[in-house]
Amino acid sequence: MSYFTEASSVETVNGRMGADTDPRLKQVMSSLVQHLHAFIKDVGLTQEEWEYGIGFLTRTGQMCSGERQEFILLSDTLGVSMLVDAINNRRPAGATENTVFGPFHVDDAPIRAMGDNISLDGKGESCLFEGRVLDLDGKPIAGATVDVWSDNADGFYDVQQPGIQPKWNNRGRFITGADGTYAFRGIKPVSYPIPDDGPVGQMLGHLGRHPYRPAHMHYLVTAPGYQKLVTHTFVGGDTYLTSDAVFGVKNTLVAPFDRVEGGQTLWHSPFDFTLVPL
Ligand code: BEZ
Ligand code: FE
Repeated sequence: MSYFTEASSVETVNGRMGADTDPRLKQVMSSLVQHLHAFIKDVGLTQEEWEYGIGFLTRTGQMCSGERQEFILLSDTLGVSMLVDAINNRRPAGATENTVFGPFHVDDAPIRAMGDNISLDGKGESCLFEGRVLDLDGKPIAGATVDVWSDNADGFYDVQQPGIQPKWNNRGRFITGADGTYAFRGIKPVSYPIPDDGPVGQMLGHLGRHPYRPAHMHYLVTAPGYQKLVTHTFVGGDTYLTSDAVFGVKNTLVAPFDRVEGGQTLWHSPFDFTLVPL
């Protein structure tokens, strides 16, 4: 037993844990205390900085509601979400990579017929998205659910603009048949800022960072017997590909968006998804 000193801070705090503490909780909390104290010692945190930090976290919590999760935005913009995602989704070569889920998915989007148009507001440049859901041997997966969502041409998801955009605008679920193919029409997505009217937006401003995400289409691909795939395809050439506010871009997820001459559909974006068995 020792009193708290600067030198013994980690051992003193961690030494208070009860003998019956859950082993995993003990591991996680001991490491957290160790790294947190090391950080405070490393920067020599001042009292004013500590107060600012408490105020920042308080404002972050106060910004949270049923519709807004400022703590997840903080995690996203500090690269924490993508790091947790990477550690928990290590996949074999050839499998489609995961990326951040984001706050704008809505459960139980309408199940649509293959080829249907998910863009209900008539805005934006029409794009045909199509490809196959495959296993690691390249065989088609039947009965896979391809759940898709994107922003509209103004850079907002339908849930950000209730009463302005039609419900379920730019969303839908498509179920693959025997050949594993999916196809739907939507719009070529546009880049947009993550919600930046709260403390996280202020933090980005102080750090000289912009809040933009490069244009992307979200996918949640599930099939019985396979790992869930949470991913996006990104529009190649987007200005923000190398400075995504939430670090979600991966090389393998940059998809072709080919211009189509003639006809009503202006763009074609082919992309196959490869799932890993459970
Ligand atoms: C998104 O892509 O929808 C998103 C991801 C992380 C934070 C905000 C938005
Ligand atoms: Fe998004």
